Amino acid sequence: MRPKASAKLLDLLNRGVSRELQVAIQYMWQHVQWSGVTGFAVKGELRGIAVTEMKHAEAIAERLFYLGGTPTTKPDPIFVGTSLKEMIEQDAKDEETAINLYKQVIEVARAEGDETTRRLFRQILAEEEDHHDTFTSLLEGM
Ligand SMILES: [Fe+2]
Ligand SMILES: [Fe+2]
Repeated sequence: MRPKASAKLLDLLNRGVSRELQVAIQYMWQHVQWSGVTGFAVKGELRGIAVTEMKHAEAIAERLFYLGGTPTTKPDPIFVGTSLKEMIEQDAKDEETAINLYKQVIEVARAEGDETTRRLFRQILAEEEDHHDTFTSLLEGM
């Protein structure tokens, strides 16, 4: 089947799948390995965000497959960390990476006239910004 999108856009979508798989596992294991009073306060949030990231992985993979690509099964390198501070600092960075990547996806999708991909990533981008806000707020006073 002939792909319905450029190789560049398909590659960007697969990079998105890799990082969604990464953070879904990363936040899930951080949720499992919580400790202390602050960890107790944060674990539910980590679990909720992990589930959202898994839904992102699924939505991006579905779009990628429809466009003629094959979704990767390989996550980007996972960093769980030991202290809560170390965990949340990494998570804030990973959300920044997502925000930059998805802004790029939105630009390329727009240039290719792919309104559906653009709309999907505008929605996902808003959620990544929300995660970034959560993690940076948690870092205050840590
Ligand atoms: Fe995500
Ligand atoms: Fe996120």
